[in-house]
Parts: sequence; C-alpha cells; structure tokens
Amino acid sequence: MNKWLQHGKTALITGGSSGIGYAIAEECVRRGMNVIILARRIELLKEAKKKLEEPAGRSSSATVKIVSADVSSIHSIRIAEEDVRRNITSIDLLVNCAGVVKPALLEDFSDSDMNNQIQINLLGMMNVTRQFLKYIPAGGAIINFSSALGLFGMAGYTAYSASKFGIIGFSDALRRELLCRKISVHVVCPADVDTPQFKQEHEDMPDWMKTESRPDAISPAVVAQKVLRAAQHGKFYILTNGSVKFLVIMLRFLPGLTKVLLDGMFPRPKAVSSDEQG
Ligand SMILES: NC(=O)c1ccc[n+]([C@@H]2O[C@H](COP(=O)([O-])OP(=O)(O)OC[C@H]3O[C@@H](n4cnc5c(N)ncnc54)[C@H](OP(=O)(O)O)[C@@H]3O)[C@@H](O)[C@H]2O)c1
Repeated sequence: MNKWLQHGKTALITGGSSGIGYAIAEECVRRGMNVIILARRIELLKEAKKKLEEPAGRSSSATVKIVSADVSSIHSIRIAEEDVRRNITSIDLLVNCAGVVKPALLEDFSDSDMNNQIQINLLGMMNVTRQFLKYIPAGGAIINFSSALGLFGMAGYTAYSASKFGIIGFSDALRRELLCRKISVHVVCPADVDTPQFKQEHEDMPDWMKTESRPDAISPAVVAQKVLRAAQHGKFYILTNGSVKFLVIMLRFLPGLTKVLLDGMFPRPKAVSSDEQG
C-alpha cells in the first residue's frame, strides 16, 4: 500500500473549494494531512478553509492553505507555485479536480463556453501537473478527474467529452512517463455526483436534454472515500458508479450492441423537418 495518504503528508487539490475536491480535502484533513486547496473564487476558498479547520473533522496538526489561481492560465499557476513553495518542500498527493461543464449543441456554444471546457479541464490539468511535478517525491501520487463522459460521448457534451477523453490519454501517457520516478497516476471517471456543478449543469441543459426523472446522484463524500481507497490500492481507472462499471464491461465485450443501446438510452436533439429548415 502507498504511503502518501498519511498524517504529516501534503496534498495539493485543485477545485478543493467545492464538491468532490472539497470532500477529498476533508478526507485528507481527517487523516492529519496538510492540505493546499486551489481554485479561483477567494470567498469560496475562505469558507472551505474555515470548515476544514473546524475541530470536529480535523487532526490537530493538519494545516489548510488556500491559493486563488486559474488553472487555465499558466501565468496564474506560476504565481501560485511561488506562493506554495514558501510553505512546502514536497507535495505527496496532487489531485487535479478543477473542472467545468456547459451542456449545449456544438453549433450553439459561445466561443468562451466551448474553449473554457478544454482550457480549464484539459490544459488546466496539464498546466498544474507540469508546474508542480518537481515537488512530488518517489512514492507520491497524482489523481486526475475525468468523467464517465471521458469513456463514452453523449449529445450535448462535445467539448466536455473531448476534454475528459483527453484527460484519460494524458493520464495514461503520464503514468508511463512517471513509472521510473515511482510516482503513481490514477484517473477517475465518475458520473452524477451531487455537487454544485451537477445542479448547475441540470439548470443549464437545453430542454431536449432534460429527462422526466433526474438521475440518482451519489454524495461527494462517498466518491472521495472510494477514490482514495482505489488509488491507494494502485488502480489506474477508478470508476465510482456501478452503472458506469457495467457500461464499460458492455462496451468492451459487446461494443456494437452497446452502441445501439446507448443511442436509444441517451437524450438526443429532435430531427429538424425540411419545413423548419426553410
Ligand atoms: N459532479 C459530477 O456529477 C461529476 C461527474 C463527472 C466528473 N466530474 C468532475 O469532477 C470534478 C469536480 O466536479 P464537482 O462536481 O465537484 O464541481 P464543483 O462543485 O463545481 O467544483 C469545481 C471546482 O473547480 C474549481 N474551478 C473551476 N474552474 C477553475 C479554474 N479555471 N481554475 C481553478 N479552479 C477552478 C471551482 O472553484 P472556482 O469556480 O472558484 O474556480 C471549484 O472549486 C470536475 O473535474 C468535474 O468535471 C463531476
């Protein structure tokens, strides 16, 4: 078992002010780890720090540091590094959890909505990893957040899926690159986790994507526990939802049939009639 999830070790968690990233920060603090959470909004970071420092969940010696930075800007991440290195000499666990989603048809995206999903989710992860890799010692770990939509695509998620498929490729190559340095790399593919992002995503959905019943979402705390446990056991792909595990097995062994089933299951935009097209 790996030694990065221990009292006195340090974790840097991007997106640690909210949702899954915050739940991972809570787990780390509970185990007596020092935690650095990085996100853009300073007020949310301050609130998260206050909650993480509440005595109930906290091991006495754990420290919580906040860093306001935008992962999509290498300039911002370089400034963040200067700030972080004043306090720490090593990062035993890097969790790349910062991410955004904006469902829409490809042709309906604003430039910023389309570009942000690639720049924050994929390039942001690469910026942070590249900048902080030198602080990760042998025996350390990197956990990257992809999505179930990094394993199969859904209409309305072209930009998001492209970023999340990209994260799996990035993580796979990085894993091999870091074998000789004994740093483990893991990639998480969750679906439907009950977070502010999940709620916002459902509000932003165009009508054709909305289904009668909203899918059951699992809690970020459960995801955090599953992810840390699986990474400790050395799993590369971490699938947190049973339905996704089932689909992955189906896609592997019955790819043709599963593709047809998914075409029928997932919401699709309605065909436009020739009258409507003008
Ligand atoms: N929730 C789900 O159902 C689900 C499913 C599959 C995958 N995921 C993935 O899991 C990860 C966490 O999602 P979540 O649901 O926990 O989201 P969340 O509650 O919205 O949290 C997202 C975090 O990322 C930070 N962030 C966003 N853009 C950033 C940027 N440019 N620079 C730095 N920080 C940034 C946010 O803070 P600021 O906005 O203040 O920067 C926030 O701390 C994401 O990568 C998401 O794609 C989630």
